[in-house]
Amino acid sequence: MSVLCEIRNLSVTYRGQKIPALKGIDLDVIAGERLAIIGESGSGKSTLARAVAGLLPSGSVTSGGMRWSSGHPLQPGRDLGFVFQDPSASLNPVLTIGEQVAEGARRHLGLSWNRAYSRALDMLERVHIPEPDKALKAFPHQLSGGQRQRVAIAAALAAKPGFLIADEATSALDMVVQAEIVSLLDELVREAGMTLLFITHDIALASGFADRVAIFKDGRLVESGPMGAVLATPQEAYTKALIANHRDLSTPPLVREVAS
Ligand SMILES: Nc1ncnc2c1ncn2[C@@H]1O[C@H](COP(=O)(O)OP(=O)(O)OP(=O)(O)O)[C@@H](O)[C@H]1O
Ligand SMILES: [Mg+2]
Repeated sequence: MSVLCEIRNLSVTYRGQKIPALKGIDLDVIAGERLAIIGESGSGKSTLARAVAGLLPSGSVTSGGMRWSSGHPLQPGRDLGFVFQDPSASLNPVLTIGEQVAEGARRHLGLSWNRAYSRALDMLERVHIPEPDKALKAFPHQLSGGQRQRVAIAAALAAKPGFLIADEATSALDMVVQAEIVSLLDELVREAGMTLLFITHDIALASGFADRVAIFKDGRLVESGPMGAVLATPQEAYTKALIANHRDLSTPPLVREVAS
């Protein structure tokens, strides 16, 4: 079990704000794990994701920080893929799907456009886009929301990053599509031995596949640990309330299933 990134006493205050969005976070990201970050709106989940990816807006003040096992921060787009809640945030409306998925492979794997296109085709197949050869030539608005999110995942994975951050990547989708995307991410991450930081406000969604969980509230890390253990024996009142509010989670069968 090797640590990919040690986050130590990390605090972040956005420009012009008095209250920090993150307050003294200590958390390890373990290589190859699926780590779920759970918390209500405004608890600092996206701030953590941006800080880890080195994508905080200019003027943000940070203290404490991160130590990477590689000795330097991962480079977004190359070593680190990012999937946003809203695929339109990561897809350009005036470029074809093919251009966008191929771009990462061309730029970061040094492939020619032709080879990058074949990799894009392969990636669209991997994320189960129907008729991937047609989809390569389509524009984002010609696809459904679920398909666009699959494309955003393909684009994030095209450069073979070792670490993927999915920030509420499924929240905008209906439940069936959401479950499909989660199982797809699970499959891709397992196959590639990738590390996944999966951000969601939905503990039930995360409980199905995360190895570990970190619970955030008001910019603080409330509790973290193996998913099954936190569900079965939450230590903090906030975590207990979060679990109790999810009827599905408080019933023994799922807890047993997750803990096993
Ligand atoms: N660019 C910004 N400038 C100023 N304040 C910000 C900025 N982005 C976020 N914040 C504030 O920082 C706090 C944490 O926000 P963050 O986006 O990290 O929460 P979150 O847990 O991702 O919420 P959500 O579930 O709604 O996505 C909030 O109070 C938010 O208003
Ligand atoms: Mg967010």
